[in-house]
Amino acid sequence: MANQGVNRGRRRFLVAATSVVGGAGVAAVAAPFLASLQPSARAQAAGAPVEFDVAAVEPGQRVSVEWRGQPIWVVRRTDEMVAGLAEVADRLRDPDSEVESQQPAYAQNEYRSRDPEILVVIGICTHLGCSPTYRPEIGDPEMGSDWQGGWLCGCHGSRFDLAGRVYRNMPAATNLVVPRHMYRNDTLLVIGADEDGEAI
Ligand code: FES
Repeated sequence: MANQGVNRGRRRFLVAATSVVGGAGVAAVAAPFLASLQPSARAQAAGAPVEFDVAAVEPGQRVSVEWRGQPIWVVRRTDEMVAGLAEVADRLRDPDSEVESQQPAYAQNEYRSRDPEILVVIGICTHLGCSPTYRPEIGDPEMGSDWQGGWLCGCHGSRFDLAGRVYRNMPAATNLVVPRHMYRNDTLLVIGADEDGEAI
């Protein structure tokens, strides 16, 4: 990897990958473990940013990267998934991401991301902090024929779309949080910092 040089001496850290959605539905596969490039344990404990190469994330896949002890979900949305975001807008509580605390300004758009294809969100429910389950299949029979993919929180039933936006009349009142992030090049994602500096 091109970034190995700049990260020489840093410790590789394994994180779990989850499921991949295929053209005809969800294919639960044993995805390979993916590595993020982490700073030292001490720096990480202090909340240092982490780097992750999104080139390893396949279409429809959600990968979890740890930052500050939290799961950060990186999803590569397919064209169909991106198209589905507009389909659900009128069923969401905050479709235009008007609650400013939930994302940086550069993610206050219809995709809630810097790149329409790649979503980066903190994987913690905004109700009481459970970790919602990835339900990427469009039309998932358990979620309803109009389901366009997203997350279901198993604790109290909150539903989120594939931009992390919460549906109306759910226990969770706000969208999932988009952390500060940026790209060092076409694929190298930095979580926890952006052009304005590191997250507080
Ligand atoms: S913690 Fe997710 S719905 Fe309550």
